[in-house]
Amino acid sequence: MEEYKITTHNENETIAIAQNLESEKFPNMVICLNGDLGSGKTVFTKGFAHALGIDEITSPTFTIIKEYLNGELPLYHMDVYRIEDKTEDIGIEEYFDKGGVTIIEWADMIEDILPEERLDIKFKITGENTRVLVLIPHGDKYTSICEAII
Ligand SMILES: Nc1ncnc2c1ncn2[C@@H]1O[C@H](COP(=O)(O)OP(=O)(O)OP(=O)(O)O)[C@@H](O)[C@H]1O
Ligand SMILES: [Mg+2]
Repeated sequence: MEEYKITTHNENETIAIAQNLESEKFPNMVICLNGDLGSGKTVFTKGFAHALGIDEITSPTFTIIKEYLNGELPLYHMDVYRIEDKTEDIGIEEYFDKGGVTIIEWADMIEDILPEERLDIKFKITGENTRVLVLIPHGDKYTSICEAII
């Protein structure tokens, strides 16, 4: 499996990766984020949202799905960390082909319902301000995007 590793040395460099990915956006893009607490998943999501023209991202701690409809494409931001039951039908899958961009924090927790074609990003904490982002594309479209932004 192809992997693309990027080290960021501060929050802004992680935001820059998100902005680069946003420039490759398309309807039904799915980005799955995994990694420890405080590794940068929300920072990434906020950077992506900002590039879409969405400014107010509230962290969906108790709401699993937040929809933002005022950007260049709709953004569906999910944080499935507190999902009670993976098989619980809260309609997550319906978002994958709704025409927007879906970004899922802690996506591994719902691995069984993720679309086959998607971009996985693993965040690793390697220092106080350093993070390693491992991009794992699933499908040709996502592979081209990784090649374009690296
Ligand atoms: N290189 C970096 N990239 C991203 N964030 C960084 C970096 N260096 C330091 N940080 C800090 O790490 C924290 C990342 O927090 P963030 O909320 O994005 O984590 P998270 O992965 O969403 O955590 P959670 O699993 O709790 O939702 C922020 O306080 C941010 O300022
Ligand atoms: Mg978060």
